Amino acid sequence: MKAIITGGNRGIGLEISKRLIALGYEVHVLSRSGISTPPEGLFSWAADVSDYEQTIQIADKIGPVNILINNAGIMNAKTASDYNQDEILHILNVNLITSVRLSVRLAEQMANNGGGRIVSMGSIAGEIGHPDIWYGISKAGITNAMRSIARAFGLKGVIANSVAPGPIDTAMMKNIPQDRKDRLKAATIRQRFCTAEEVAKTVCWLATDAPECINGEVIDLNNGTNYR
Ligand SMILES: NC(=O)c1ccc[n+]([C@@H]2O[C@H](COP(=O)([O-])OP(=O)(O)OC[C@H]3O[C@@H](n4cnc5c(N)ncnc54)[C@H](OP(=O)(O)O)[C@@H]3O)[C@@H](O)[C@H]2O)c1
Repeated sequence: MKAIITGGNRGIGLEISKRLIALGYEVHVLSRSGISTPPEGLFSWAADVSDYEQTIQIADKIGPVNILINNAGIMNAKTASDYNQDEILHILNVNLITSVRLSVRLAEQMANNGGGRIVSMGSIAGEIGHPDIWYGISKAGITNAMRSIARAFGLKGVIANSVAPGPIDTAMMKNIPQDRKDRLKAATIRQRFCTAEEVAKTVCWLATDAPECINGEVIDLNNGTNYR
């Protein structure tokens, strides 16, 4: 059993990688910086997912997989007015465009091989009108794309879902001002953010054991701060 996870070398992605390895998967991680001491069962590939052609070449080398996790992502500490066109295209390529194209490509393979599962990392940012406008747009887009893929390939056994975490304490949070973090934490039921482990547990459940009738859906993980 094989899985590809983008950005599976650190943060939430590494937790997902470790969990999939523990479940018996051969885990192929695509990232720019790699991982210095990969756990047994983890295969690290140097890839910049803003470059679709490079990403797909590596996916082709890895061959057919049972699971794709679209996890690589960036967020910028920029207002809408600060963005130039290149920066917009970059964040959309990393967070959305390559993930969608890779998902379509691997969904076709999965459909031909009897099925497979795709889970993408959305965010509460895709719901709330996030300060990083293009981050929010990318996360709203990926959730919708999973729904389209579920509808297009679901009859052939492809299950595609997303998760939408609130803030999680990883490197990505370092650019968030402390007063905003304090306000966000105070709005949670348990006065704490969800952990990377809790997100990984949910992602891996969707990628393996979750009922097949959960397809094209999104699971929120925000400790009660944003009910749909
Ligand atoms: N932390 C949060 O509060 C939060 C909340 C909701 C959703 N999320 C989402 O969860 C996912 C993981 O975030 P995280 O919190 O674990 O952040 P993180 O610690 O900053 O990790 C980001 C991951 O993405 C990879 N990545 C970034 N740009 C890449 C590129 N161009 N090519 C290949 N890989 C790239 C990074 O690897 P390299 O740098 O080595 O390339 C790293 O593995 C992201 O999609 C994020 O949007 C995070």
